[in-house]
Amino acid sequence: MTIALVILAAGKGTRMNSDTPKVLHPIAQTPMLVHAIRAGAVLSPERTVIVTGHGSEAVAKIAEAEDETAQIVVQEEQLGTAHAVAQARDALDGFDGDVIVLYGDTPFIAPRTLERMIEARASFDLVMLGFDIAEVQPRYGRLIMNGEKLVEIVEYKDATEEQRTIRFTNSGLLACSAKLLFELIDEVSNDNASDEYYLTEIAALANARGLSATAIKCDEAETMGVDSRADLAAADAQFQSRARNELLALGVTLMAPETVYLAADTVIGRDAVIEPNVVFGPGVTVESGATIRSFSHLEGCHISRGSIVGPHARLRPGTELAENTRIGNFVELKNTEIAEGAKVNHLSYVGDSTVGAKSNIGAGTITCNYDGFNKHRTTIGENVFVGSNTMLVAPVKVGDGAMTAAGTVVTRNVEPEALAMARAKQENKPGYAKKMFNLLKAKKARRN
Ligand code: UD1
Ligand code: MG
Repeated sequence: MTIALVILAAGKGTRMNSDTPKVLHPIAQTPMLVHAIRAGAVLSPERTVIVTGHGSEAVAKIAEAEDETAQIVVQEEQLGTAHAVAQARDALDGFDGDVIVLYGDTPFIAPRTLERMIEARASFDLVMLGFDIAEVQPRYGRLIMNGEKLVEIVEYKDATEEQRTIRFTNSGLLACSAKLLFELIDEVSNDNASDEYYLTEIAALANARGLSATAIKCDEAETMGVDSRADLAAADAQFQSRARNELLALGVTLMAPETVYLAADTVIGRDAVIEPNVVFGPGVTVESGATIRSFSHLEGCHISRGSIVGPHARLRPGTELAENTRIGNFVELKNTEIAEGAKVNHLSYVGDSTVGAKSNIGAGTITCNYDGFNKHRTTIGENVFVGSNTMLVAPVKVGDGAMTAAGTVVTRNVEPEALAMARAKQENKPGYAKKMFNLLKAKKARRN
């Protein structure tokens, strides 16, 4: 069976109260729409059509970055979900397989659920996806069933008091042949409480033609629609709890799981230890046996086995830690490679740099990588000892086995095994401290 995905993402999301289109709001630091595209990708769709409207350009940009083959269509006016699907008609010209309609604001569909919808298509012309809602809510369409048969779908606004108490609720997702889907959509009217073209009307239309419709059931957690910030927070919390449990099952230690915030693409290896209160931004890989200590913030970085990061470390994009490195408290690294066994233990900023194996970067070291216009690189060799409070004014190189004296401002390259020292010479004045104290004491006494 060849599959095409149609993902509805044109709505404004009025209840989000935001300038950002609803489907671009992130869950686990990844736009909802990207979650939906990834969910559908497990079906290896032959075509993917994304229906955009509000913030179309921004939505298209994110969609194309995730799937360059995606076809973007624009629904100029949001006249309802059936009208939205109708916009995909030209993009699906010549396609004669099944269409799966996904919603950009329903991001957590499990692969198995999509497969079950396709399996059910063997026996029914139209397959909708529903869920039993735990608490009856004044939202969502109600699925009116007669045994296995779906009779019709009634939106909450249009439902009778009795229908509103039905717990079998519409997720919005459906599977149908492309040909039938567009035929049924042509018959949809906007004669309802919202004056919208409801996609849900196609269930009754299929029955009127003597065709068969059904609704299969999935877990409520998979189909929670996001319509407000509260829904978004709830969806994120749900994602976090699932992702943490997956990591625990893989053999990762999370000392206080509920305090670790993960991104959708976080990868952590077996026997890694994550202490409480760690935030993972996008693009982080932590290898087996590494330790991330409390209050660290990581994004776009790779941490190899045996390395220890934090507490209170900040690793920014482009950071690559080889095995057995030590990155300590209040250290910020950006676009920097730290080779095996090297240490940056305290209060440092190292950016646009390379640090060779077994080198030690002293407390308070800063790479001055930015001159206000351009960024420059700092290259530190192997077995280098960088003294505390060294300023490395980039571009600059420090050769293998070299040393810098504490407080040195390095502006020229340091050759291998050399000692660089650049600071004012110290002078000691005997007895001067005592004199100074007496003077100051007397001054204070006069003032009182
Ligand atoms: C819809 C369903 C409802 C279901 C619920 C599940 C209809 C009529 N109702 O209601 O039965 O229980 O989803 O979450 O289908 N969209 C467009 N263009 C439009 C209108 C909507 O692209 O003209 C998109 C939205 O961006 C969103 C999706 O379609 O991704 C659903 O729209 P939304 O307004 O959230 O529908 P609900 O009222 O939630
Ligand atoms: Mg919705």
